[in-house]
Amino acid sequence: MSSIKKYNERDFIKLREAGKLAAIALDSIKDKILPGITTQTIDEIIRKFLRDHNAYPAPLFYRGYPKSICTSINHVVCHGIPSDKELKNGDILNIDVTAYLDGFHGDCSKMFCVGDISVKAKNLINVTKECLNRSIKILKPGIHFGNIGHVIQSFAEEKGFSVVREFCGHGVGEKFHEEPNVLHYGNKNEGPVLEEGMVFTIEPMINEGKFETKVLKDGWTAVTKDKSLSAQFEHTVGITNNGYEIFTLNKN
Ligand code: MF3
Ligand code: CO
Ligand code: CO
Repeated sequence: MSSIKKYNERDFIKLREAGKLAAIALDSIKDKILPGITTQTIDEIIRKFLRDHNAYPAPLFYRGYPKSICTSINHVVCHGIPSDKELKNGDILNIDVTAYLDGFHGDCSKMFCVGDISVKAKNLINVTKECLNRSIKILKPGIHFGNIGHVIQSFAEEKGFSVVREFCGHGVGEKFHEEPNVLHYGNKNEGPVLEEGMVFTIEPMINEGKFETKVLKDGWTAVTKDKSLSAQFEHTVGITNNGYEIFTLNKN
């Protein structure tokens, strides 16, 4: 018996609103990602944007997390804490925004480039985005969660990169993190079966080098052990009767 929550049509309407707001917040920042801006400033802009739209930034005070978004630069894999450190030319960073609106969450992240970035960084970003897109395209009732991981792992490793194991996607909806864990590696036809109404994130973290990570002394910031670059993209998706819907899209 699956204990994965299933959301109904009315919930989907609210998930769509929360997801769209998170995506718009994330996109609203793109012209400001320039050398010299601090991640603290980005945090403030997004917190204000969400508050102005009647939403709450779900990370703020979540399990003691001190900020409203995560900003993960270069070899930071995820959960980087905004600070007064300035971005510099050549940095790549993931910004992760979760909006809590009218009882529902929308969770998404994408990569941003500061000034001119290296060819290998660009390649890592493109492959990571493609991992997420390929895994979303297969979604429909009846497939197993393992198929998602399989698609991501196969493509990432074919390109010479590795898939982070210690962090995964998650069910999301009324709570920020719900069952199940959505692994970004694995085998076809393993794990729970997808059913209409399930809502979860897919958020592959792909490393240029080895997959091992460690968490810094602040208790949050996860980095690659070998200091290689890491990239991540995230969407919140819902399973429909014959496929999927991406909630975290910036559409009108
Ligand atoms: N948004 C992140 C995720 O994709 C979670 C951040 S938890 C925090 O699941 F506490 F670090 F904010
Ligand atoms: Co997430
Ligand atoms: Co997120």
